[in-house]
Amino acid sequence: MNETPKQLFDSINALFENVSLKELKSINLELSKKYKTQKHKFFSSDKERLSYIASRMPATTKAIEYSLNEIQNISPKTSIKSALDLGSGSGAFLWALLSFFYSENGKLQTSFPRTHLVEKDEKMIFYAKELLKNVKGISKKITFEKNDILRVKNYDFDLVMLSYVANELKNFQIDKIIKRWFFSKSKIIVFVEPGTKVGFKNIKYIRDNLIKKGCNLIAPCPNTLKCPMPKNDWCHFYVRVKRSKIHKYLKGGTLGYEDEKFSYVIATKEKVKYPKARILRFVKKSKQDISFTLCKDGKVMNEKVSRKGKKRDKKVEKLNWGDTFDV
Ligand SMILES: C[S@@+](CC[C@H](N)C(=O)[O-])C[C@H]1O[C@@H](n2cnc3c(N)ncnc32)[C@H](O)[C@@H]1O
Repeated sequence: MNETPKQLFDSINALFENVSLKELKSINLELSKKYKTQKHKFFSSDKERLSYIASRMPATTKAIEYSLNEIQNISPKTSIKSALDLGSGSGAFLWALLSFFYSENGKLQTSFPRTHLVEKDEKMIFYAKELLKNVKGISKKITFEKNDILRVKNYDFDLVMLSYVANELKNFQIDKIIKRWFFSKSKIIVFVEPGTKVGFKNIKYIRDNLIKKGCNLIAPCPNTLKCPMPKNDWCHFYVRVKRSKIHKYLKGGTLGYEDEKFSYVIATKEKVKYPKARILRFVKKSKQDISFTLCKDGKVMNEKVSRKGKKRDKKVEKLNWGDTFDV
């Protein structure tokens, strides 16, 4: 996987050359509030769209990238030749794909999946195209459709992606999408949502629905048993995202990165070789041992591994929140 954010940041910077950042800053505050209170349903102005691109898109791109990486980790033989991105916004999914299909010499690999993007907001489609302007060869691989995703009937793409969209849909609409995917020729469906209580509630709803249909789960769940997450807790993971100058200006703070928390589920109609467990929290290390919170056998449990003597396992030392653990 290559580092795409630099190219993405360059494209975002170019987009912002003639935009007043001062004005965007107040819009950005409003947008953050809407997201926190779950009141965001659609972009109501161009400033809101731009604010989303500068302050959210690099993070949503990284979270999607993480989910795609899990497909490689758990089902390495999966080949994705085509993809459908529902609620594609400014094209985060394409940028996530680029980190897998962009060669070091700046060329797009011929294996880049044929990708169809569906978005109801025409201006977001415009910005997605603007951001990709300098990515040579991509226009031959992608098609855009301005439409309501609920009108899409053809799901015959190897992978179907819905990132940060379920929150904007009602449960019966999510059911409709899952049903259409299930009866299509598609192999994999991915949902990514914010790593919040509400985001996880949506993911859990989607997970239950997919399991009822007899699907397997590629990630993060290590089985299809009842989700063991306690009522007031939520299963989430994180990615570290570099912050651009614009991002720092809009959101304040001085740190060079931010941690994007997200919840996700990836389902398939094919068989899965399940790992034994998934690490749910930061790994704690003492001189004697390493402690993990695991999702395993339908339970959330704690596990300790010794760091002493012959029992010391170098692979275990490198494990992190979100990794699988065959303990
Ligand atoms: C929060 S943005 C996420 C964009 C992108 N997927 C990402 O991860 O950055 C949600 C997008 O879904 C689009 N959307 C929501 N409901 C939709 C629907 N019913 N049909 C088409 N697009 C929809 C919105 O217009 C918006 O651009």
